Amino acid sequence: MPQYKRMDIKETINMAQLPQHVAIIMDGNGRWAKERGKLRVFGHQNGVAAVRDTVEGAVEIGIKFLTLYAFSTENWNRPKLEVSALMELLVNTINKETKTLMENGVKLHAIGDLGKLPDKCRSRLQEAMEKTAGNTNCTLTLALSYSARWEITEAARQLARQVQAGTLSADEIDETTFAQHLATRGMPDPELLIRTSGEQRISNYLLWQLAYAELYFTEKMWPEFRRTDLFEAIADYQKRERRFGLTSEQLTK
Ligand code: FPP
Repeated sequence: MPQYKRMDIKETINMAQLPQHVAIIMDGNGRWAKERGKLRVFGHQNGVAAVRDTVEGAVEIGIKFLTLYAFSTENWNRPKLEVSALMELLVNTINKETKTLMENGVKLHAIGDLGKLPDKCRSRLQEAMEKTAGNTNCTLTLALSYSARWEITEAARQLARQVQAGTLSADEIDETTFAQHLATRGMPDPELLIRTSGEQRISNYLLWQLAYAELYFTEKMWPEFRRTDLFEAIADYQKRERRFGLTSEQLTK
């Protein structure tokens, strides 16, 4: 965005037309570390500062839902050492950052196959979610051991069980009932998806929910992402025309 100095970017955002829900694929930690001759885990450790600043930036401008892809179902296949380092980082970060979440009025939430997480990780997550449950400024959802195909399959299984038990008829299944069985039930769909590190894929993330989302890709590696980058993405989003399958003329009527 060359016409604005980075410091001014927040002033260009129309606060009356903020996306309610921003989803982020935090990518590039490993490459960022390798470029510096360090181990991949160094990148994850430095990714925590990016998470903190992005969450604070979201609260600062009034984003109500922020959903971060922290660990995918596929990530379990990474080297054992990296997986355990990531789990430990998660536990430590939750321990350290709960205070910041409270100060910022952020409610912590998690989606994914949480039963697969190590006990310690799950229990710390649970404690932090309970502690922050009354906060209302922003809901920070961590997608952990998450994949959209897992989530959609789970929803289909739950609905099939209800049909089998006779508590639901197949004809009653529509988009609304289906969405109520997804892990994101009760949240609005993200209007904006951000992915860092130059990759331009959705990678099994919120496939149902991103149906109408605007996609924003930045070359920036996740450890270097800050609130100004979030503001830039939102300013870019606000310049786009969202048509939901309609024509421009229909929208201006
Ligand atoms: C993707 O980079 C990042 C991850 C798989 C993990 C994200 C985790 C953090 C930012 C740490 C802490 C998070 C929280 C929510 C406390 P990559 O490893 O795929 O990078 P690469 O594509 O360069 O290999």
